[in-house]
Amino acid sequence: MVDAAKWVRVAAVKQVGKGDMFAAEAGGKKIGVFHLEDDSWHAIENVCTHAYALLTDGWLDGDSVECPLHAGRFDVRTGKGLCAPIDEDVATFPVRIEGTDVLVGLPG
Ligand code: FES
Repeated sequence: MVDAAKWVRVAAVKQVGKGDMFAAEAGGKKIGVFHLEDDSWHAIENVCTHAYALLTDGWLDGDSVECPLHAGRFDVRTGKGLCAPIDEDVATFPVRIEGTDVLVGLPG
């Protein structure tokens, strides 16, 4: 995992159940944060690489999120685009749980 330069609190753990996602803004970036059914946490750039839509306005299905505009899908663990019309992956960010807080690591 990347050694993030700066960790930013984006939520309280108890606010986000398993299978839930939410939109966060930190360091001028729009970030989608995902709490999967296996209790793992992931964060990716929240803006779709195809046109402009927030991925957290779409649908989370297992470990992939579907864009609300044209049904492109991304793997929330890797940021990888999974199907047309996506031809560019999204960035990922490390997530850390510290006590009752969810932290996202921003690059320096
Ligand atoms: S804007 Fe996301 S698939 Fe087109």
